[in-house]
Formats: sequence, structure tokens, C-alpha cells
Amino acid sequence: PAVTPFSVRMPVPATRIPSVQTADTDIYRLSVQQATAQILPGLNTPVLTYGGSFCGPTIRARRNRKTLITFDNKLGHDTNVHLHGGRVAAAHDGYPTEVIAPGSGRAYLYPNAQPGATLWYHDHAHHLEAENVYRGLHGFYLIDDEAERRLGLPSGGYDVPIMLRDALLDDAGNLVFDPADPYNRPTLLANGKPQPYFEVAARKYRLRLLNGSTHRVFELTLDGAKMTQIATDAGLLPAPVAVDRLVLSSGERADIVVDFAKAPLGGHVTLNDVAGAVLRFDVVRPAVDRSRVPALLRPQAPTPTAVRDRKLLLSLDPVNIRALINDQVFDPARVDMQVKRGTTEIWEITNTDTNVGGSGFGVPHNFHTHLSHFLLLDRDGKPPLPGEGGWKDTVLIQPGETVRLQVDIGPHLGRYVYHCHMLEHSALGMMGQMEIVD
Ligand code: C2O
Ligand code: CU
Repeated sequence: PAVTPFSVRMPVPATRIPSVQTADTDIYRLSVQQATAQILPGLNTPVLTYGGSFCGPTIRARRNRKTLITFDNKLGHDTNVHLHGGRVAAAHDGYPTEVIAPGSGRAYLYPNAQPGATLWYHDHAHHLEAENVYRGLHGFYLIDDEAERRLGLPSGGYDVPIMLRDALLDDAGNLVFDPADPYNRPTLLANGKPQPYFEVAARKYRLRLLNGSTHRVFELTLDGAKMTQIATDAGLLPAPVAVDRLVLSSGERADIVVDFAKAPLGGHVTLNDVAGAVLRFDVVRPAVDRSRVPALLRPQAPTPTAVRDRKLLLSLDPVNIRALINDQVFDPARVDMQVKRGTTEIWEITNTDTNVGGSGFGVPHNFHTHLSHFLLLDRDGKPPLPGEGGWKDTVLIQPGETVRLQVDIGPHLGRYVYHCHMLEHSALGMMGQMEIVD
């Protein structure tokens, strides 16, 4: 069913208020439950939700203040929760086989001992993750940071998280999930609404863009205008960069600052993907703007020396309907690499899928690692795009491409996964695990 673009308003997911606050922890309880959402006007779409709302409530954490969230599984099947981009202890990371059975609950503790960043939480139950996330188990988790607050960036109501994703809806409004055809999801959603509009004041906004799709790569432009990118997955860039185009694969984030004072009052600014318009900003009122974008956002840490290099190959095995890293599917009983806590490694990752099953077609993959953040060193030996110059946890890898990552191994011990974040692929096994040791 077609929707007239810009006929529905984009909501901003509500920020959840903690149910209890102790001296050092914010405590929440959220149920994982079925609900209906009005995605297409006039139709009720059955969805899976955190707390009943499609997209999920936003959790706002403060750096170095802990968050404890109990998720109660009220679905008829397994789920679990992963804080994407979070540096959390292994037992709280949402390991793919450590699921929350129907009728039970599980508490996850997040230390938030990391710089401010746009994170998100989503389902990670092995084999179910793609469908669970597709049906709505995704929400924002933002870490606020005192150092960041002092920069004077747009904040409060001018700091807007926007989850972009796609969907295939049938005539009755049901979400259709076909893992074998993830490319046929023509409806583009911003915070759960199809090609909505969003009313803004004539001033600067911080827009936190997340690609919450399970597969689609967004290639975004803003009516030909430059966007000021200030952050990547794991937080602020060293300095803002002006970009014409933002490429976000599944799970990636980019924070941009857009000054709507540059558009006329009553005017529009449209965020477009290559597949069509995503979201229109309507500049409806004047505003006083005391926010700013400083020329320096975050001091750059000196580059440590890498202790070792590793190579990972990503490939599909369409004959056996499997997806592989180094020719193997995920096996929780097998440790694929042992890494030392707190060290730096270089990982070279190649997408070998230039001709899947002899079809003549290549497929993109991406790569996400838990616990650790990384810097993208190069793509096929060429320097990364300016907007890819900060700390990340997810990176797109085009067919035949090789990326080199400088991985800063995180601060906790235990087993963590890394995988393709095109979740239909991780569900088919394109996932490995590392054991962090001392
Ligand atoms: Cu966003 Cu392992 O996931
Ligand atoms: Cu993949």
C-alpha cells in the first residue's frame, strides 16, 4: 500500500523515566511484548515491542552512572537483549544463546563507563534476531557525557534520535518478513512512520541517525546541502566534518548537526535515500539559537601499537543456506580467537562475495564487534571517508572489499561475538566469538 509522502508526523520515541534511582544506578523494567502500531494510516500492524511502543522507548544514561534494566519476556518465543556499542560485562551482553525464555525476565547491567554516544538496544537471540528486530525489537540508548554537554551542541528538544529502517507491509498492514528476500522492503520508516514530516524551528538541531534495518544500506543526502557530521557509532569525532552523503549500513549511527535557519521560514528540507525520500523537515517557527558546533569536539588519543594482525573472510554459502566467517558458521562451543584485554589489534576483513552462487551478483556485508570499538584504517588500502574517521563498532564492506580496523579490545573478560550486522546473515551463522583473556 502506498502512502502519500510527508502526510504523517514523525514521532520522537519517548524517553523512559527510571522506576527507581539509587546513588549510582538508574533502574528500569521493560516488558518485551506484542502490540499493534499504526505504521500505515488507518491500519493496525502487529509488532513486537519494548514496553508497547514501536521503535521502543529511549533510554538516556549518564556516563559513569549505571543502568539496570530488567526485561520481562511476554512473547511466545525466546528473546534477549544486546546493547549495541555498549562496553558491558560478558554476562550482560546478550550472548546469542543466553536467551530469556517466555514468561521469564532477565536483568542487564550497563556501566556506561564510556564516552557519550548514540547506542541502541535490540534482540540478539540466535537465529531469531533478524525477525525479532525486523518486527520491532529495537530502541535508542543514549549516553550523555559531561564533557560533551560543555561543548554547547544542540540539546534537549533540539537533540532528536531518528531510527531509519525499511519494511514490507501487506495490504492488511502486516509486516512481511522474508529472510531470503531482504532487498524487497520498499517502505522507508523514520521512527516507525512512513516518509513522515517533522516540524522544526529555524535553528540548529542535532540529529542522531541510526540505521535500524536488518539489511538495507541507506545512502543519505540532504537536498544537496552539506551535513555537519559530529559523531560516529561510538561517539564524537575529533572535529566536525562536512559531508554531502552519509552511507549507513545496518546498525551504524551518525550524528549530524543541521542548521534549519539556512532554510526560509515555511520552507522544507528533505532527507533522501537513493531509494526515495525518507523524511521532510518543515521549518515552521523562528528560534533563538545559542547552540554551537566547536571546531574541536574530542581530543584524539595517541595511536597505540598493535600487538597482532588477524584476517577474517565473510562469505555466503547459498547452496547450504549458511553464512560464514572464515568458512565456519557460529558455534557457541568454539572459540575463534583469543584476545588480550586492553590491547590493540589490526583486523583485516574481506567480503569475498563478488559472485554469490555463480549468479554474477555480489552482496554487501558489514562487520560489527561487541565490546570493542575500532578505527577504520583503510578500505582496499585507500583512506576512509572523512565521516568514518571516528570510533566505530560497525562498518560496511562492499563486495570484494577489504577493510582494515584498528581494534581497541575492551575492558572485560569472557566471550563476546562479532558478526555481520545484516541480521539475516548472522542468523545463518555469519558470526564468530572471541574470548578476552588476561
Ligand atoms: Cu547490533 Cu551483535 O549487534
Ligand atoms: Cu552479511
